[in-house]
Amino acid sequence: MIILAIESSCDETAAAVLEDDKKLLSNVINSQIDIHGKYGGVVPELASRKHLEDIYPVVREALNQADVSLNQVDGLAVTQGPGLIGCLLVGLSFTKALSLVKKIPYVGVDHMAGHLLSVFLADTKPNFPFVALIASGGHSSIFLASNPTSFQLMGRTRDDAAGEAFDKVGKLLGLAYPGGPVISKLAATGNSRAITFPRAWLDPDSLDFSFSGLKTSVANYVNQQRQRSEDLPVEEICASFQEAVVDVLVEKTIRAARRVGVDSVVLGGGVAANPRLRELMSKRTTEEGLQIFMPPPEFCTDNAAMIGLAGYHLFQAGLETLATDMDAYSRSLFF
Ligand code: KG4
Ligand code: ZN
Repeated sequence: MIILAIESSCDETAAAVLEDDKKLLSNVINSQIDIHGKYGGVVPELASRKHLEDIYPVVREALNQADVSLNQVDGLAVTQGPGLIGCLLVGLSFTKALSLVKKIPYVGVDHMAGHLLSVFLADTKPNFPFVALIASGGHSSIFLASNPTSFQLMGRTRDDAAGEAFDKVGKLLGLAYPGGPVISKLAATGNSRAITFPRAWLDPDSLDFSFSGLKTSVANYVNQQRQRSEDLPVEEICASFQEAVVDVLVEKTIRAARRVGVDSVVLGGGVAANPRLRELMSKRTTEEGLQIFMPPPEFCTDNAAMIGLAGYHLFQAGLETLATDMDAYSRSLFF
């Protein structure tokens, strides 16, 4: 089965072509960071307009790179939600139009399901069931995945997502948007024990996260330093902040795996590209006798390949349609 997948939930216009769940034939991503960078965050109206401009060339490019014509495409997969509604509607409407004109069935894919299954784009793939940590700009959640279409939420953030915390701390320090990749680079040369920032463990049994207190603590530290007219130890702040986030993400994920008795742990979402998270998760899972599976960093951040992969399983489950009444949704279906 040849699948053409489209992702437009936030600030990347992306298209990919897959052969079943086995072979990725192309994976094109057009990032809008240049446009949103100067505002320090994604401007929804600008994002949807840019998707509208880019979607046709990006899809065209994905088909060209895969050396596949539209007539060879058996199914379309598109991100239905969660995300920015105006952005999602661009991808969804484009897909519906293709489906209508070419009579190709399509499936609406949950963006989180895409992140959850992105690990299957790696060479080493896990077996079900597994516990997955999905940490992105919009979500920080732990799931129990029983099969490719069934996920149970075990924990989630009560306030900011992990990626959002990285981005807000980046802004506070005057770094470029998005903060995550910049902070992780600066952190590499900083001492993670230089400043003690709080870890929100919440109740002893909780698998939920909270990052807003940590963000406030970084803000207070930065303000104190500025009031004293002292130089900001940026690398030290980045490393200490990053360690506080990563520490809690890792330990709660391991706790979740222990609770349900699975021995495989999976990472996904933009924050899973963070080298320190990958390093500490590998170390701690090994110590605990668990197996860790991670997508390569380029499949952690938003892409259409993961949407195609999740879409393939929806086709296998017979959930495709030719109807044009599918609607986008902004909030996750999982909670
Ligand atoms: O999954 P993603 O591309 O989009 C959403 O679904 O939100 O995740 C984007 C988030 C941003 O908050 C970004 O700062 C964060 O992932 N991110 C990182 C790193 N690379 C991307 N956070 C920490 N370290 C990184 N290396
Ligand atoms: Zn995402």
